[in-house]
Amino acid sequence: MINFHVMTLFPEMIESGTGGSILGRARKNGLISVDAVNIRDFTDNKHGRCDDYPYGGGAGMVMQAQPVCDCCKAVRESINGQGRNGDSTRVIYLTPQGRTLSQEMAEDLAKEEDIILLCGHYEGIDERALELLHTENVSIGDFVLTGGELPALVMIDCISRLVPGVLGGDESALIESFHDNLLEYPQYTRPEVYEGLRVPEILLSGHHENVEKWRREQSIERTLRLRPDLIPGAKLDKRETRYLESLMEKENGN
Ligand code: ADE
Repeated sequence: MINFHVMTLFPEMIESGTGGSILGRARKNGLISVDAVNIRDFTDNKHGRCDDYPYGGGAGMVMQAQPVCDCCKAVRESINGQGRNGDSTRVIYLTPQGRTLSQEMAEDLAKEEDIILLCGHYEGIDERALELLHTENVSIGDFVLTGGELPALVMIDCISRLVPGVLGGDESALIESFHDNLLEYPQYTRPEVYEGLRVPEILLSGHHENVEKWRREQSIERTLRLRPDLIPGAKLDKRETRYLESLMEKENGN
């Protein structure tokens, strides 16, 4: 069970992004919870303003420290109120300046009971809020989005699928891409022939061991072709290492 607490100006984006499909089912089954908290509810002015002009000038608006910090305080207190430790709950701030999200990071976060996600908007959040909340800064890639909500949803998705029971089969989380640092092998389903293209014969053979061997080889081949940067970290046995070497020799024209 992981409890996600999302601090945002657009709680409806978080609700709709986690209401259906696998995450919706996981929420209904009590395997994850998602609490979208509106930062605007914590403003200390009657207009509900959360942003202001940047000191020093420049384009855009900056989210103020006070509503963000008060929102986080309320979230921590609510976690404490549920008998868990809100004061030590990690706060992840979604920002293109953060460490790039990886499967390893998701696996680490999947061990937590509670995770607080902070979504920024406008030109960012007053630096003092980030300092006071001891945020860990995470980016989902080298591109800039309009806000942190989509990145927060990406994080909730990739962490949730690691929670036992969220995916159908128990192993499905393990076999897919990035297991052993290899990409996934190609998949086929009926019919046997589509537009003249046949399913590889070996998959119809019913010979389980040969199928497994073929799939591993396909994974190695794909990884070498599409993500050669993953190869140094790939976990291969002796036979697979020889197979990889033979592919590399072929590639080098030997
Ligand atoms: N906010 C805006 N762009 C982002 C990105 N690439 N990753 C995380 N948060 C963001």
